[in-house]
Amino acid sequence: MQHKKIKAFPENFLWGGSTSAYQIEGAWDKDGKGPSVMDMGKHPDAVTDFKVASNHYDLYKTDVALMAEMGFKAYRFSIAWTRIYPTGTGEINPKGIEFYNNLINELIEKGIEPVVTMYHFDLPYALEEKGGWSNRETIDAFENYAKTLFTHFGDRVKYWLTINEQNTLILHGKAIGSVDPNLENPEKELYQQNHHMLLAQAKAMRLCHEMVSDAKVGPAPNIQLVYPASSKPEDVIAAQNFNSIRNWLYLDMACYGRYNSTVWSYFEEKGYTPTIEDGDMEILASGKPNFIAFNYYNTFTVEQSVPENAEGNHTGDEHLTIGEAGVYNGHTNPHLQKTEFGWEVDPVGFRATLREIYERYNLPLLVTENGLGAYDKLEEGDIVNDDYRIDYLRKHLEQAQLAITDGVELIGYCPWSAIDLVSTHQGISKRYGFIYVNRDEFDLKDLRRIRKQSFYWFQKLIETNGKSLNS
Ligand code: BG6
Repeated sequence: MQHKKIKAFPENFLWGGSTSAYQIEGAWDKDGKGPSVMDMGKHPDAVTDFKVASNHYDLYKTDVALMAEMGFKAYRFSIAWTRIYPTGTGEINPKGIEFYNNLINELIEKGIEPVVTMYHFDLPYALEEKGGWSNRETIDAFENYAKTLFTHFGDRVKYWLTINEQNTLILHGKAIGSVDPNLENPEKELYQQNHHMLLAQAKAMRLCHEMVSDAKVGPAPNIQLVYPASSKPEDVIAAQNFNSIRNWLYLDMACYGRYNSTVWSYFEEKGYTPTIEDGDMEILASGKPNFIAFNYYNTFTVEQSVPENAEGNHTGDEHLTIGEAGVYNGHTNPHLQKTEFGWEVDPVGFRATLREIYERYNLPLLVTENGLGAYDKLEEGDIVNDDYRIDYLRKHLEQAQLAITDGVELIGYCPWSAIDLVSTHQGISKRYGFIYVNRDEFDLKDLRRIRKQSFYWFQKLIETNGKSLNS
């Protein structure tokens, strides 16, 4: 639809930025923190591990001051489960509570709304050793952890996100390490883990309403609309398949507590049907979100899967789709450019995704990730000219504004990432932040913070509540 008049961004719009604990904090074993699966994972030789990251643990005051200078209204970060419970359960680590209390207080003092992800990929290693999400006891451990978070931080944190990108954990579990790829049927195991995570999420949402009645809670999957490669009806079916499997499964469960019919027939066809115990469906139906947070980087395009093009879908990179035999096959979209890391860039797809989610679930939306990973260059005089990032963000925000004009209730935009951090599998050289962190893969240098050009651009945008976008 073409609009004669574009609506303004709403008042109190949550302009901000996002990070996750293991990618930014460092201090991986400091002050009683236990190891997580991310600390124990393998790293490609050419990239750094997460041990020091951006050392936000020690430098959080500097970072929050810079966020405040940018005008942030919100900061979306995750709590490291292993700082609170070093082995996932048992004794609370007071130093972990202290760190997040300090961070939250610092944010509030600066007028920045804390938006907290409870779990962002970094499962306690001690739980992983006991079977991780395959073990139903992890559901209880998560519920207990959530209870502790609401008890200690619920007085000040009013926006809670349950699990970051559960769909990435499942769709790329063999590469991320959530499951042993040598199992006879790893996908069946992954969908059993998925069922357990969904139960944990439903319990946490229910608990949030009981314990902190003025707080809002929601899921945080990675949602990116899937396009058919052509108007060929079989391609449309393939797009419906992948939309149901990668997107709607996660939101249908969070919002309605039911498996959608396409996903269920896919499970049956492939032999992935999870074991559902008595009472599980009641628990799933009882956890209601107040809003939907989601991460968006691009769209996917698929065609019908035929024997000649059938391949696996397990690259370990959640933004590169290959396909699954008999279900869909990935297709390069000829209308889109790619980033230097091969991810398609689709700002209009952002509008389409926002509209689709809102129409399906009718809940307020919060964008908790969107951004451009690039090899930024630090130039003489501490200058980082990331005009390509400004261009990326501007185009996405223009489309977000059109989605608002279309009627979508968008409450905030927290791109990835507030400051530079270590990418999931491509190191610190793949940068996303508004603030440059002076280190390389293996040379920690001085870790000093440097404002990029995008910092000033975003600052102006927030100051004008988005008006400078159109000037
Ligand atoms: C999201 C994750 O999928 O994408 C983040 O929630 C991640 O943790 C971000 O960093 C960007 O991906 P990558 O692989 O470039 O770090």
